[in-house]
Amino acid sequence: MFSSINSRAIVPVACAVTGFVIACCVLLYTFVKDDLIKGEIQHAADLSDTVIKSTRYAMLHDDRETLSNIISSIGEQNQVEHVRIFNKKGLIMFSPDSQEVNQFIDKSAAGCTECHAGAEPKRSLGTMAKARQFTNSSGNDVLAITAPIYNEAECSNAACHFHDAGQSLLGTLDIGVSQDPLKRTLGQLKNRMIMFSGMILVLTVGAVCALLYRQVFLPIKLLTDFTESSESDSLGTDLPEVSGEIAQLAKAFQKMTNRVQELESQLQSKDDVSPPNLRS
Ligand code: HEC
Repeated sequence: MFSSINSRAIVPVACAVTGFVIACCVLLYTFVKDDLIKGEIQHAADLSDTVIKSTRYAMLHDDRETLSNIISSIGEQNQVEHVRIFNKKGLIMFSPDSQEVNQFIDKSAAGCTECHAGAEPKRSLGTMAKARQFTNSSGNDVLAITAPIYNEAECSNAACHFHDAGQSLLGTLDIGVSQDPLKRTLGQLKNRMIMFSGMILVLTVGAVCALLYRQVFLPIKLLTDFTESSESDSLGTDLPEVSGEIAQLAKAFQKMTNRVQELESQLQSKDDVSPPNLRS
């Protein structure tokens, strides 16, 4: 009885705690992952802003050499997988990879379709819509941002320049950063969560077992021993040291046994005086 109560009480508790902890961890992991990816996209969008702002002066002065130098230096950065400046027609004007320069990209390519999906191209994109994730030709996971480079009054007024004021967009910047650091962080997070869940499981199941043993199984075992000892006709007054309902139960059992014993002895004395055939 002890072992069956034991398993009947502990197995469901262990299953419930395991299920609950796993569900919570999966949920938490999904949320944290989403937040980290959003943070990474914001970070890449800020980077693209910085690139556009730092190239602005060179663009205004039509200083292609400086611009090309800036783009090459950015391309040398550790996490930067690619960086390109397209002109409005989709021609790659600047890129650290000299083979890419002067290549033509169709507006149906990834990174262009976000704006060019409809009949009328969109003028601006939200931060999240600017981002795309893909695996590049060297097998690295990349998070890329396509940011528009807008026409400004200074661009169309610049003496050297030919952009007319009617153009709203001069080109786009496409910058891709490696997802490896994010993947590493997520991997670490996953391992820590698995360890954490394991710890919670062991601690909770251990604590529940200890509590159940102390509060339920032990009193029940004492009660069982107490009731079993009554079979040997010598149910003592030494109630087990239990409290609450179990003590009540022990007392009730003791009372009942006493009563049965009393009745038995009454019957016994009747048996002694009357013949057995009258009793039935
Ligand atoms: C931020 C949104 C945006 C992105 C991203 C974008 N474009 Fe555009 N594109 C525009 C807008 C707006 C115009 C119209 C500009 C104007 O008329 O002043 C345009 C015009 C063009 C044009 C000339 C007009 C036409 O429709 O044929 C070409 C070609 C073009 N884009 C190609 C590309 C290519 C290739 C890419 C990807 C490398 C790209 N665009 C990315 C918004 C975008």
